[in-house]
Amino acid sequence: MAKMAASVVESGEDAFRKIFKFYKRREPPPDLRDVTDFCRGVPGDKIFPAELDPAAVSDEAAAGVGLKPVRDWRAFGLQGYPGFIFISNPFLRGSQAFWVRQCLKTYPQKPNICNLDMHMCPADTQDIWGRSAHELGSPSSGKRQPKTLLEKLRWVTLGYHYNWDTKTYSANSHTPFPADLHSLSVQISAACGFPEFSSEAAILNFYRPDSSLGIHVDESELDRTRPLLSFSFGQSAIFLLGGARRTDAPTAMFMHSGDVMVMSGPSRLLYHAVPRILPAPQERAEVLEHLGAASLQQGGGGVLEPVSDADWAVCSRYIQSSRVNVTVRQVVAPGRSLPGTPPPSLLRTEGGPTVGYRDGPAGGDAGKRKRRNSGSDDAVET
Ligand code: OGA
Ligand code: MN
Repeated sequence: MAKMAASVVESGEDAFRKIFKFYKRREPPPDLRDVTDFCRGVPGDKIFPAELDPAAVSDEAAAGVGLKPVRDWRAFGLQGYPGFIFISNPFLRGSQAFWVRQCLKTYPQKPNICNLDMHMCPADTQDIWGRSAHELGSPSSGKRQPKTLLEKLRWVTLGYHYNWDTKTYSANSHTPFPADLHSLSVQISAACGFPEFSSEAAILNFYRPDSSLGIHVDESELDRTRPLLSFSFGQSAIFLLGGARRTDAPTAMFMHSGDVMVMSGPSRLLYHAVPRILPAPQERAEVLEHLGAASLQQGGGGVLEPVSDADWAVCSRYIQSSRVNVTVRQVVAPGRSLPGTPPPSLLRTEGGPTVGYRDGPAGGDAGKRKRRNSGSDDAVET
């Protein structure tokens, strides 16, 4: 546990909750000296180089999804967290732009599901990008404009659509998983020693500067022998990785744009949370700034496409204040299938439109965004 943060925890207290509050606090801002920064990371007492399998991914296959050759990745493990792998921005220069554009323009499109669908009719959530791009792409007039739909986006689900109310996936709520994101996930997991990963569900989280994600475990997937992959783009975050018990003291680490986290083995079911979004450090911000079409490298059979200047103007403006996180999960073991609709007893019955756990009231992020897993009642406000 971090020294600074440790001083706020007395024995027997809920260490995770205290440390979460410590890093979420605005005034005075928390001391960040004990937050592990893998990108600066001279492997220290807690960080060690992680072993990857460079032979599992050809350079061409890596380039085709925008990744550097595996031998050039800087991957780390963390003492006390077997199965946890942190890959410090393995993306080729320029290729994050493609993934950011997919997250903002492509993946929120139907048939995928997003928080706005919980209280808006399908016709109004049909073209989130088209209805936001003009305003987001042009310099602000200085006046406070109403928020665009893109700025109101909090989550998108892909593949098996996670049901926030029942905390289950269902065979009845499934749409095709994007081939490009599957391809990226397959290369990452193969390099980490999981050659047969099948991307079946993803959750995209869209964080504003004041957003956070509460303490939880991702345990809704039926096959927990497969890793959970996490990709971060845009602004930075503090990520807290705890233990198998909800109260275990967590380790704090930065996640910057391009960083990839793999939670596998005993680390697959650890408690974790995101208490704070932070401005990207200068060197990462620069990498994100000018990533036009020209800088894309293309491998044979790759999925990357150039990002137009007009699209990049919107993306770049969005990520100047926001963070996008994508977690990709395998839900079922090979040859197994998911049950259908969950029993009605598990479905919320109160009247009115169903509101997703992470969804604030219409038009605002002033409301609560809740993440309830493991029967926990942890609620985090944005
Ligand atoms: C999640 C999650 C972490 C992050 O979506 O389950 O833990 O870094 N995301 O945003
Ligand atoms: Mn999670």
